[in-house]
Amino acid sequence: MSNTQARLPQPLGSPLFERSRELGEASEHIALKARKVSFAWEGTPLHWIPDDPFTTHTINVLHLLLPAGERWFVHVYKQVLPYIRDEKLRADVIGFIGQEAMHAQAHDEVLPHLKEQGLDPAPYLAQVDWLFEKLLGDRTLPPGRARTWWLYERVALIAAIEHYTAFLGDWVLNAESLDRKGADPTMLDLLRWHGAEEVEHRSVAFELFLHVDGGYARRVRTWATAFSALVFLWQRGARFFMENDPTLVDGRATWREFFAKGQQGMLPTAGAMARSIPRYLDRRYHPSQEGSTAQAVAYLASSPAALAAEAREKGAH
Ligand SMILES: [Fe+2]
Ligand SMILES: [Fe+2]
Repeated sequence: MSNTQARLPQPLGSPLFERSRELGEASEHIALKARKVSFAWEGTPLHWIPDDPFTTHTINVLHLLLPAGERWFVHVYKQVLPYIRDEKLRADVIGFIGQEAMHAQAHDEVLPHLKEQGLDPAPYLAQVDWLFEKLLGDRTLPPGRARTWWLYERVALIAAIEHYTAFLGDWVLNAESLDRKGADPTMLDLLRWHGAEEVEHRSVAFELFLHVDGGYARRVRTWATAFSALVFLWQRGARFFMENDPTLVDGRATWREFFAKGQQGMLPTAGAMARSIPRYLDRRYHPSQEGSTAQAVAYLASSPAALAAEAREKGAH
């Protein structure tokens, strides 16, 4: 056992966590399981939303950020796991770890396909890896308060990021414009399978944050960091893809186009993103108030990739 872990306050758990548990229980609780999906990318075109490279690439940024980001979630959570004093939360965190590891792998598998089509993501990925491994990694902090502070800070950062993965998951499950525009069904299934699991496990990260700390100043501070980082990384990623797309001459990503695509239902609107901010910062916030578990579970029951994973699992037993 490391000194960091030994110095975590014991037992963990706070009145905030207890109240949150009640809220979570009031909504439907589902045992989380990782679905071992795989996708075949051969038939997916470079612009998988026909004639819309901007929306295609803006959504493609997920494939750049999520593998490193979700592996980092798993890395941080494994450090906190031995100190969770609530069996149900521990089971949720283990289910969450399994799901996020699978998400990272599924998005990773899109990258060779992009490279085959002339879009090599390596230069951008190097920056993302640096961010998660060096800037947000374990650091060589002395054992004790500084190390505990940094662990709690990262748990809170993950809770803030998960507010947005749930937001995006809810959005993509309802983004009928993507279907109307003829978006590639395999990519849509990847996004909706992932989005549905994000909605399904949306309370776990916030409840873990409340369990280990739950401080309001920390919630606000880490939200500001996570939100700024997401906006910064996302616009850089979209610019990177647009500028390096071999089929575009002078490809550019602009805020004007982002707002326009939001109005057309092809991306989340700026208004919906703005409204999500006070909800997270509200002291009464609980993720169960966001999105619909029933809708997520219904999608997972019909997702081609999730169904194939289930059939494989049944065949293996
Ligand atoms: Fe995920
Ligand atoms: Fe997640």
